[in-house]
Amino acid sequence: MATAAPTFEFVDLFAGLGGFHVALESLRGEGVFAAEWEPTLNALYKTNFGIQPWSDINDLDTDGDIEREVPDHDVLTAGFPCQPFSKAGDQMGFADTQQGSLFFKVYQILRVKRPRRFILENVPNILKHDGGRTKRKIIEMLHSLEYSVKVEHFSPHEFGIPQVRDRAYFVGSLDGLSRFEWPTKHSGPTDITSVLRRDTSLTRSIPERTLHAIDMWGDFLRRSPASLKMPSFPIWSMEFGATYPYEDETPPGVWDRRPVWGLRQMGVKGSFGQSLECAVDGQKERIPSHASRDSDYQFPRWKRAFIRQNREFYQDNRPWIDPWLDQWKPWEMHSSFQKMEWNAQGEARNIDNFVLQVRASGLRIKRPTTSPSLIAFTQTQVPILGANLTGERRYMTPAECAELQSLGGISLPTSDIEAYKALGNAVNARVVKAIAERLLEGLGNPDSSRIADPEPLGTKHASAASKRTDAREEGASRTNPLRTEPVLVAGRSV
Ligand SMILES: C[S@@+](CC[C@H](N)C(=O)[O-])C[C@H]1O[C@@H](n2cnc3c(N)ncnc32)[C@H](O)[C@@H]1O
Repeated sequence: MATAAPTFEFVDLFAGLGGFHVALESLRGEGVFAAEWEPTLNALYKTNFGIQPWSDINDLDTDGDIEREVPDHDVLTAGFPCQPFSKAGDQMGFADTQQGSLFFKVYQILRVKRPRRFILENVPNILKHDGGRTKRKIIEMLHSLEYSVKVEHFSPHEFGIPQVRDRAYFVGSLDGLSRFEWPTKHSGPTDITSVLRRDTSLTRSIPERTLHAIDMWGDFLRRSPASLKMPSFPIWSMEFGATYPYEDETPPGVWDRRPVWGLRQMGVKGSFGQSLECAVDGQKERIPSHASRDSDYQFPRWKRAFIRQNREFYQDNRPWIDPWLDQWKPWEMHSSFQKMEWNAQGEARNIDNFVLQVRASGLRIKRPTTSPSLIAFTQTQVPILGANLTGERRYMTPAECAELQSLGGISLPTSDIEAYKALGNAVNARVVKAIAERLLEGLGNPDSSRIADPEPLGTKHASAASKRTDAREEGASRTNPLRTEPVLVAGRSV
C-alpha cells in the first residue's frame, strides 16, 4: 500500500482523530483536505496524516470560499456533530444554531464541489429524530443535489470488534447506488480480551472507594444463592428496608402537604430502613435522591416498578442480604455505588470475570464479550477490567480503547482524558472501510487484495504523507479515472 499510487481523493470534515482517514487511506485513497477546530486534534491530525486541517468549518462561509479553499475531491466524509440529534443531548436538531446547522455546511460543500461519493455518520437517533422528519429532510436535500442516497446503521460488534456502538451511515453517489450493497454483518461472538494488551504501563490506579464498591458488589454476588435468578432490573440497595410512599403520593408531595411534620408519624422508613422521626430537613437526607426531587409529585411508571421490585426482592432475600448490609454499610458510600446493574444473566457470579463501569445509574457489570460503547467518557466511566481478564483489576488504557475503534496504529492525545474523549467521538475505521469498499467500487481501481487485507487498520500513519510523496517522486503515474484532464495535486500535474 505504501508505494501504490492513490486511486481517489477524499476530504475528511469534522475529522477528529481521523477514523475516516484511516479507513479510506487503507483503500488507497489520498486525503487532500480535513477540517477540525479542536486545537489538540487539529495538531494531531498533522502528526498522524501529514495534513494540516482547516479549523472552524463555518469560516468557509461563501461558495467562493469553498471553491477556493477545498480542493476538488472524489469522496467526502463527515461525522458531523451529533449532540443536537443524540438522545443524551437536548435533541434540538437543526434548530441548534451552533451544531445542528453543520449539516447545512456539509450540504453546501457537496453542492459546490460535487464529489462523486459521500459517507456521513451520526448517532442512530438521527433516524428517529423529530418523528423521522430530520432523516427525511437530510435525504431530500441530498436528492436535490442529484445524489442517490442509502441509509443504514451498524455497530463494530457486527464486524467482529468487541464494542457495541450503533451508528447511522448515509452513503451517496452521483452514479446511482443500484449496485451498492451494505456489508454483511458478522454474527459470531466477540471477546474483549482480543483488544487487551499485556504490556500496559498503567497511568492511573482505580480509586480506593471504587475498589471498595466493587468488592462490596462482588460479595453481594457471592452470597446470592445459586438457585436465585439475579434480577434483571437495577438493584437499588437504598430501597432495602424503605417503606416511604411512592405509588399514590411521593415524599415531595408529603413535604408540601405536611410542611411541619413531613413523613414523621406516618409509620414509614427511609433509605435502608432509616427512621424518619426527625425534622423535614433530616428526612430529605434519608430519602434516596431518586425519590426526593422538589415538585416530584408523581413518579413515572418505570421508577415505581424499580422501587416495588427492589423492596420485594429485599423481603424475599433478607436472610443473606441483611448480613451483607451489616458488613458493608452501603449507606456510607456515594449513591451511585449503592446501585448495581447485572447484565450477565446466567453467568457464574465472580465479579472479576466481568467488565465493570461506574455510572450515575450504578455499577454496571457486563459480560466480557464487548466493551460498553465508548463515549466522551469522564475518567470515572472508563471501563474497568475484572482481575480474571487481565491479572489485576484495571482501567482499559487509551491504546486498548483505540483498538475498539480500529485506530490502533495512530498517535493519540497525550492526556488520557483527551484521548478517551476523542476516541469516544471517533468513527470506527473498520466499519467505515467495510462500507466504503463497496461504495467506492467503480471510483478508481481499489485492488481487491488490498480490500480483503485482514491487517489491522491505522498502522504507520505518521509517515503516510511522506510515503505518498515518495510514490509520486518515484514517478508513479497517477491517473484519476474520474477525470479525463490531468489532476493538479500539491501544485504538480500528475
Ligand atoms: C463526531 S466527531 C467526529 C470524529 C471523527 N469522525 C473521528 O473519527 O474522530 C465531530 C468532530 O467535529 C469537530 N467540530 C465540531 N464543530 C466543528 C466546526 N465548526 N469546525 C470544525 N470542526 C468541528 C469536533 O471537534 C469533533 O472532533
